[in-house]
Amino acid sequence: MGKKGKEAARERREQRRREVALLRSLPYEPHQRWWDRLAPRAVAVVTGANRGIGFEAARQLALHGLHVVLACRDAAKGQDAAERILAEAPDDTVVSVESRKLDVADAASVEAFAAWAVETYGGIHVLVNNAGVNFNKGADNSVEFAEQVIETNYYGTKRMIDAMIPLMKRSAYGARIVNVSSRLGRANGRRNRIGDVSLRDRLLKDDCLSEQLIDEMITKFLEQAKQGTWSLNEWPQMYTDYSISKLAVNAYTRLMARRLSDRPEGQKIYINCFCPGWVKTAMTGWEGNVSAEEGADTGIWLALLPQETDTNGKFFAERCEISF
Ligand SMILES: NC(=O)c1ccc[n+]([C@@H]2O[C@H](COP(=O)([O-])OP(=O)(O)OC[C@H]3O[C@@H](n4cnc5c(N)ncnc54)[C@H](OP(=O)(O)O)[C@@H]3O)[C@@H](O)[C@H]2O)c1
Repeated sequence: MGKKGKEAARERREQRRREVALLRSLPYEPHQRWWDRLAPRAVAVVTGANRGIGFEAARQLALHGLHVVLACRDAAKGQDAAERILAEAPDDTVVSVESRKLDVADAASVEAFAAWAVETYGGIHVLVNNAGVNFNKGADNSVEFAEQVIETNYYGTKRMIDAMIPLMKRSAYGARIVNVSSRLGRANGRRNRIGDVSLRDRLLKDDCLSEQLIDEMITKFLEQAKQGTWSLNEWPQMYTDYSISKLAVNAYTRLMARRLSDRPEGQKIYINCFCPGWVKTAMTGWEGNVSAEEGADTGIWLALLPQETDTNGKFFAERCEISF
């Protein structure tokens, strides 16, 4: 892209940021607030909510009137974050939050969390899978922590989806799962894509996509990473381990959407994913170009979408659908 093209693209992005900021400032109308009609209160869970985008997602959902569980791997940090949301809420707004320990990379922790959610609330209405790690920054591209990155970002998200689906509460408005992903996880991105054309095609075709295909991709990459034989020609070129983890999240979102799509009215679960942009958080060393509040926006919008839109198995950024 030439200099003029880049400037035009930057201007379009800025324009969209302004539009989304305006949309965010508009209150939801009473008829749009389906969560207000759930008794005693709609329950939302946000993973990795002690800081960054997760904290903002929890804060915004709480300000909209949902009861929010901040699910954090460090109980003290979770408690501090919940107290901060309560302390910073405007005087005229009632917010309801609590924190609960959850390590998405630990199957026993996920199981204990699910058991607590059932016992305490009988289930939940909204799940935001936000917890994630990326050990690369700037121009780095090391796969030293590939296993941990994939275990947390993909298997952690999958584990939570699988554990929470049976607990998603039945309602006329549908339950929601929102996965925080990244444009870096596009199978066919302009600057970051899977080099293996056959794998890329199979991942993008609904009739080829399966859990087994996703697992095979991950196993192959992790083996190559361990042996030092992985190559940028075959795998995404930027933050390779992280990009593969988010590619897997995107693929699993589509797969689950298909599996969930034939649930009857009153038992619907909508699952979508989004890219928050390049966000000023610890993960980017605060080098992003949007705030955590802006970064969380599309996730909140997806979590609160009216059921009539029937939005399922899609990928979004700045409240617009984008390609996988
Ligand atoms: N920042 C960006 O530009 C950007 C862009 C695209 C996508 N994302 C995605 O956005 C999400 C949030 O990232 P962020 O930018 O807000 O980063 P962040 O500030 O580093 O926050 C990550 C959060 O995830 C938590 N976490 C990590 N491993 C966990 C585990 N095993 N169990 C439970 N929680 C865990 C962290 O907890 P601790 O505090 O205990 O470490 C922290 O609360 C991630 O999924 C990330 O991949 C970010």
